[in-house]
Amino acid sequence: MTPGMSLIKHYLQFKDLRAEEYAYLFDRTRIIKTRFKNYEKYTPLVDRTLAMIFEKASTRTRVSFEAGMYQMGGSVVHLTTGDSHLGRAEPIEDSARVISRMVDLVMIRTYEQTKIEAFAANSRVPVINGLTNEYHPCQILADIFTYIEHRGSIAGKVVAWVGDGNNMANTWLQAADILGFTLHVSTPTGYEIDARVAGVTNTSCVKVFKNPLDACRGAHLVTTDVWTSMGFEAENAERLKAFADWCVDREMMSVAQTDALFMHCLPAHRGEEVEAEVIDGPQSVVWDEAENRMHAQKALMEFLLLGRIG
Ligand code: CP
Ligand code: NVA
Repeated sequence: MTPGMSLIKHYLQFKDLRAEEYAYLFDRTRIIKTRFKNYEKYTPLVDRTLAMIFEKASTRTRVSFEAGMYQMGGSVVHLTTGDSHLGRAEPIEDSARVISRMVDLVMIRTYEQTKIEAFAANSRVPVINGLTNEYHPCQILADIFTYIEHRGSIAGKVVAWVGDGNNMANTWLQAADILGFTLHVSTPTGYEIDARVAGVTNTSCVKVFKNPLDACRGAHLVTTDVWTSMGFEAENAERLKAFADWCVDREMMSVAQTDALFMHCLPAHRGEEVEAEVIDGPQSVVWDEAENRMHAQKALMEFLLLGRIG
């Protein structure tokens, strides 16, 4: 490892930042979003380059990082497994050593968390997790900003997670621990959250429910995700059966708080994990959530490259 490399700030999981750093980031996100909406030029990252490495498909992550970096005056390099040596068995450590000598920041979407950690350990520049099997921190960053925009602080609130104990669920659990809210979780048997995988030792912020309707009772936010995440496609038929009762429907929303929000990181499958009437209904904020990926990640990139502004 290059001397001093351990001092680099990476964003590999939600718990890599503290509550007061999140408060700062949410504030910067609001400012950056307002400037963007007012067509005010803001280019603090001129001459900076972001490498984006995708080993899995993406629409939102790709567009939000790429558009965000250009808007801030920087540029991007887009790499996939298929069109780089990452798919031809060049060690991840060597890829990190090479790529991080040429760019200022790296975003990676890959499979195992250990892979992004190996990259970060050998990178001269900050690395951002754009989704792994275990975590999706940029999504929860945007989701919580979206909650704050609509309803104010999330501290003390109840978030209901209905569905798979996956990367999104693990990241919500880390966020609950750091930001002081309660996570109600309901998953089918065999798909539970594992606190060790989630990397959370304080489990007092999570309550587990067998019945998804009970998890939604009194919730300020109800959220879900696809039944089959990327990389698990071989289990699709089995999962369709196991998750049949974990579709967020109007009944579940009716037992939540009357002003409860509905979120989904997207892409969504109407009629599977969510009823069309819910995702396309008045409590859904999924389009704001998607848009806020860009604003929140612009604040994150600014923070990782320039530190605190002002
Ligand atoms: N929510 C999300 O990360 O979307 P993409 O897979 O399209 O990037
Ligand atoms: N859990 C999903 C999220 C997609 C954005 C997946 O990993 O495929």
